[in-house]
Amino acid sequence: MRCLKLTGVLFFLFVNQIFAQEKLTKADRLTWFQNAKLGVFIHWGYYGVNGIGESWSLYHKRISYDDYMAQGEKFTAKNYKPEAWAKLFKKIGARYAVLTTKHHDGVALWDTKYSQLNVLEKTPAKRDLVAPFVKALRKENLKVGLYYSLIDWSHPDYEVVFPRPDTRNNFPQKQQDQLTPWQRFIKFNNGQMKELSTNFNPDLWWFDGDWEKTSEQWRAEALKDTLLAWNPSVIVNSRLKTHGDYSTPEQGVPIVRPEGAWEFCMTMNDNWGYFPSDTNYKPISQIIRTFVEVIASGGNLLLNIGPKPDGSIATEQLERLEALGDWIKKHETAVFSTKAGLPYGHFYGPTLLSKDDTKIYLALFDTPKDYISLKGLQNKIKSIKVVGTNEELDFERNGGAAWNNIPGILRIEVPLEKHLDENVTIIEVELEDALLLYRGHGNAVELNK
Ligand code: GLC
Repeated sequence: MRCLKLTGVLFFLFVNQIFAQEKLTKADRLTWFQNAKLGVFIHWGYYGVNGIGESWSLYHKRISYDDYMAQGEKFTAKNYKPEAWAKLFKKIGARYAVLTTKHHDGVALWDTKYSQLNVLEKTPAKRDLVAPFVKALRKENLKVGLYYSLIDWSHPDYEVVFPRPDTRNNFPQKQQDQLTPWQRFIKFNNGQMKELSTNFNPDLWWFDGDWEKTSEQWRAEALKDTLLAWNPSVIVNSRLKTHGDYSTPEQGVPIVRPEGAWEFCMTMNDNWGYFPSDTNYKPISQIIRTFVEVIASGGNLLLNIGPKPDGSIATEQLERLEALGDWIKKHETAVFSTKAGLPYGHFYGPTLLSKDDTKIYLALFDTPKDYISLKGLQNKIKSIKVVGTNEELDFERNGGAAWNNIPGILRIEVPLEKHLDENVTIIEVELEDALLLYRGHGNAVELNK
């Protein structure tokens, strides 16, 4: 009997062990991300001091290496308030934020022991800027994304296309004679990533620059395994060659719905970092429309801000974050309880679908004329209203060929002007049952009634 009991206990422990070791699937890891809808991207670095291109101004030889690095003397972080950032991000409806811990220029925003090229040693900020950011995000229950450039244009073992002085003093590495320069570089990158992982345990790694080398050179597959070993629920953007978990289109909004999980990252003006002479800001309505188009295609918008060297955020950027947040607040149900909308052809504009398929959300970018039309809908309609104001809208259906199962066109009354949103109006169409679409090519009417 005792022996039986013991066997039972051992069996239980064994099964438990197996479950503990079971790997989370990619779908499990991506769950929060696929419901996130909005993230804030933050490009914060030396480049904001002169207001020049982030790292690329080196690559394009617009500034000498020494002058670029001299910007560090004015990178004060004097008005850096990560708690206020996190509160703001939370308020506007973002679910995650991604901070540039190290851009291609190689400057680390955290306390790294692998390079002296960090804000503690080189700038008047003199402190780790990533630590309080991570803490503040966690406090607001936001997911933490760390941008890490695989490329490092300061590391002496990384070849560059612009003139660079000897940088070895900034990279105290033990003499490792048996390693090639590239092996030394990979060891360095891994060391920094391990530091970031140990100190901050990010929920998301946002890599950049993978295009400069091959997958083998980056040891991409092994790196992905390592990241998952450090944090089994972590997710990784697509810039780790083919080993990312979701795709990351940039600047040009996708026209065709991308497959799988994805995120569209976009600047508010034409630059990622603080760049005061760039006043080509996208109007608020464009940012809101883009947000709607992206979530209507099942993606997230990762909207970028470029804080000033003192850590404050430019008014134009604050205004845009706030305005998007106000719009989201008013249209919350259409944003957070939805998924990608109808396939092309049913409605002239983006649409969203409730997760249970019983509500369709139609986005109106322009003031509609005569009526709003929705085609190919087999369902009976329960009610139609304007999201945010609750105005009930009348509707009628005409045409179609019921005997061939081809539904008529649904004509929805145009909302009163005061119920139209100044940016994007959302109409909620509530169905009697789960969505059923007609997707055919039409038929000849073989028998008239
Ligand atoms: C590009 C640029 C980089 C920027 C990134 C953001 O890859 O190289 O400067 O940080 O886009 O998506």
